[in-house]
Amino acid sequence: METLKSKVITSKTHHRGNGGFEVPPIRVGIIGCGFAGCMHALAYQPHIEAGNVKLVAACDIDEECARKMAKEYEMDVHCTNWQDLIKRKDIDAVSISLPHYLHAEVAIAAAKAGKHVLCEKPMATTLEDCDKMIKTAKDSKVKLMIAETYRFMPTMVKIKEIIDSGKVGEIFFARGSECLNEVPKIIDPESWHCTPDKAGGGVWFDAGVHICSAFRYTLGDVETVQAGVLEHVATKEKEDDNAIVLLKFKKGAVGEAFLSETVGSPAFIRFEYYGTEGTILMDTAWDRPIKFFSSKGDNPSEEWQIPEVEHLPMPQFYSLSFREEVKEFVDSLLENREPKFRGEEGKVAVEMALMGTLSSRIGRVVDLKDLYSSAARKVGIK
Ligand SMILES: NC(=O)c1ccc[n+]([C@@H]2O[C@H](COP(=O)([O-])OP(=O)(O)OC[C@H]3O[C@@H](n4cnc5c(N)ncnc54)[C@H](O)[C@@H]3O)[C@@H](O)[C@H]2O)c1
Repeated sequence: METLKSKVITSKTHHRGNGGFEVPPIRVGIIGCGFAGCMHALAYQPHIEAGNVKLVAACDIDEECARKMAKEYEMDVHCTNWQDLIKRKDIDAVSISLPHYLHAEVAIAAAKAGKHVLCEKPMATTLEDCDKMIKTAKDSKVKLMIAETYRFMPTMVKIKEIIDSGKVGEIFFARGSECLNEVPKIIDPESWHCTPDKAGGGVWFDAGVHICSAFRYTLGDVETVQAGVLEHVATKEKEDDNAIVLLKFKKGAVGEAFLSETVGSPAFIRFEYYGTEGTILMDTAWDRPIKFFSSKGDNPSEEWQIPEVEHLPMPQFYSLSFREEVKEFVDSLLENREPKFRGEEGKVAVEMALMGTLSSRIGRVVDLKDLYSSAARKVGIK
């Protein structure tokens, strides 16, 4: 990837200093130097500048990718075998940005080797692997954070703030969409994307966890999930590339998730929240990405309100949430506290996504009990 470093967007970072004593930086290894790995490396930059982080090693099975990243980010080491990276004594934490089927194996081995773990979403492809990751991190006394960008997206944080303020009343319906045009990538037979044994599912599993995490953050726990359609528009030989799924939340709201990897326009993300006393609309294609209407109070405004929120046009938009999630990981290590999106939250997103997969396979609405039943095992969900 061309020089991402020049595009660093700064956010507030801690400047370390302990009564004049130098505190050594957190030494980080990046495993997987594709798109997300590059976004992680970029997001560590402000923390490197603040003296809190040192990027030590880049690992990718494609040596050229690893070499390129190591050179760009002035890392001492590049390698092609992740076992070599996690064996190193000069690494305290790893960022894992690999195809989904590798997340659990690498995260578990890294935690056993005493490394803190920031692992890309979806946490793992099975519930059993999610549990193993959580247990190993606990037993090894390391932090495990799942890199769920939507939880840290400035627009999503703002939406939660508006909902929690009560300005739009009780939310009864919400819609969340991630619309991408990734056709060349997903139809490539060599690509792991949408390939069942490597991706764990299609767009519903891959991008669905984003919408599930955003919905859970803003609407609370889910009660039931019903897959409308998991469709194949371009990927006839692979998993779904379009999906519509309905989620009923315990607090009463209904959410509709729409995921597409085949739209004929530039990518965008869109959320709509309908409350008893107002509406919130968010679209990353807009210059000012959020507007909301509140009819609350005796003298409500008759105008849509447009709150201040940090925003960049797509696709740079993504760098803001990568920046925020990496900041949360670094802060949790510096402050020796649990990160805000731990393995436990990552697992709930996987549960919600797998409930959608189960619903599509057995053709009915499902709840959490169904997910852990023999009916789920029978259709290959573990
Ligand atoms: N949060 C987001 O917005 C976002 C966006 C894109 C991807 N992701 C997630 O990031 C992860 C990676 O996705 P990506 O788009 O970067 O994929 P990618 O294909 O661009 O990168 C994956 C990299 O892993 C390398 N790799 C594969 N097997 C390996 C192995 N055994 N050892 C070492 N390296 C290996 C590949 O060579 C490749 O460079 C996935 O979990 C994906 O869901 C998240």
